[in-house]
Amino acid sequence: MSLNIVILAAGMGKRMQSDLPKVLHTLAGKPMLAHVIDSARQLEPSRIVVVVGHGAEKVKAAFANIDVIEFALQQPQHGTGHAVQQAVPFLVGGDTPADTTLVLYGDVPLVQASTLQRLLAAREQGVAVLTETLADPAGYGRIIRNEAGHVTRIVEHKDANDTERQVNEVNTGILAAPTGQLKNWLGRITNNNSQGEYYLTDIIALAVQDSVTVSAAQPASPWETLGVNSRIQQAQLERAWQAEQAKRLLEAGVTLADPARFDLRGTLKCGRDVFIDVGCVFEGHVELADGVHIGPHCVVRDVKLGAGTRVEAFSHLHDAVAAEQAVIGPYARLRPGTQLGANAHVGNFVELKKTILGANSKANHLSYLGDAQIGQRVNIGAGTITCNYDGVNKFQTVIEDDVFIGSDTQLVAPVTVHKGATLAAGTTLVREAPADTLTLTPKKQESKQNWQRPVKKA
Ligand code: UD1
Ligand code: CA
Repeated sequence: MSLNIVILAAGMGKRMQSDLPKVLHTLAGKPMLAHVIDSARQLEPSRIVVVVGHGAEKVKAAFANIDVIEFALQQPQHGTGHAVQQAVPFLVGGDTPADTTLVLYGDVPLVQASTLQRLLAAREQGVAVLTETLADPAGYGRIIRNEAGHVTRIVEHKDANDTERQVNEVNTGILAAPTGQLKNWLGRITNNNSQGEYYLTDIIALAVQDSVTVSAAQPASPWETLGVNSRIQQAQLERAWQAEQAKRLLEAGVTLADPARFDLRGTLKCGRDVFIDVGCVFEGHVELADGVHIGPHCVVRDVKLGAGTRVEAFSHLHDAVAAEQAVIGPYARLRPGTQLGANAHVGNFVELKKTILGANSKANHLSYLGDAQIGQRVNIGAGTITCNYDGVNKFQTVIEDDVFIGSDTQLVAPVTVHKGATLAAGTTLVREAPADTLTLTPKKQESKQNWQRPVKKA
């Protein structure tokens, strides 16, 4: 048995008012088409064929590195049936009724693999359509059933008569069909309708003509089949999906100060009793261990935090890890390559990049620590700066255990501060500082008695 998945993505998306092809617009930080492809891949198909047309080059370029995908070009676009016809040369199998082709839409991003599994299970060697019952079905294709309740055809809103328009069961567009027969039906559909298009939906009546059973399945959640045609629908679906993600976290035992002010654009793995305050954005892959506390308005991207670590308000963390009980922020910036040891503290207006701050070490105020390896129990005074860059190359700073660095110190890398050393406030360190010794760069203090402040010229 082989499974093909065809994703229709050739439409223009005129109402998005954008130069970007519609399916490249994002939902939860990821292009809509990527959501569909990810769900498709969970079904482990033999082929995924994306039908592209408008903005084809941009769409292909965006997914060039995913090797399971084939692209079929539909140019110009003569309807959904015509779109699937363009994918036919790429379809595998078709000799047995078990060989399946599943049609998805690139602008219906949130359909879940579990729902698609159910649709495939409902097919029973025939055709299965994913349908929904809507209070307001206007605009959708209607599912027409006979007295026995069997689906006999789908009629588009524009082609439907008044009785048919009363039907509340609509076509979501997603369907599964036997590959061999699908090819045959696609060759038989006409564009004899109000839009002059080749409708994929016309294969239903052909299947019934050929005595093939047509079944229907429904999505588990209504947001799964919502399509995006405008920025308004994109924004609405974003909120629906964020609410769903928030709900899943709440169910898993995470506290969200306000589920309506929570954004996850990636994956978030949480231990027990994690607290997340309002307005935070999580991106990439984030892991928060037991008891982690995230203060309000933080951006957390590709980060792993150990148990009991606290991130205070307005902190920005990217590609960083912290061990347990670390304290970060408020207003901290952890840039890629930051590693904090247990109980390390990074305070306000402190920026770390490619820096290891050891266990029980503190950099609490106004510092830049870049390309630095800092040991345990080190105190970094306010205003300490690693001068790691000469304009061309980057250099390492090494600060060993139990060092005390006075305020407003510059460490001109490459440089090492040995174990237990103390640097006086205002030191400009250009050579290594010996262990257990006070190092300072004396500046003579003087006071000028006869000096006068400048006065404003008249
Ligand atoms: C389609 C269905 C309708 C269903 C509705 C659900 C048909 C004839 N109608 O109508 O029954 O209720 O979806 O939203 O199938 N596309 C192409 N090439 C084309 C035309 C469309 O790739 O030539 C793609 C579009 O980019 C889009 C999808 O197919 O992703 C659906 O096209 P759209 O024009 O929105 O179909 P509807 O008229 O809404
Ligand atoms: Ca549509």
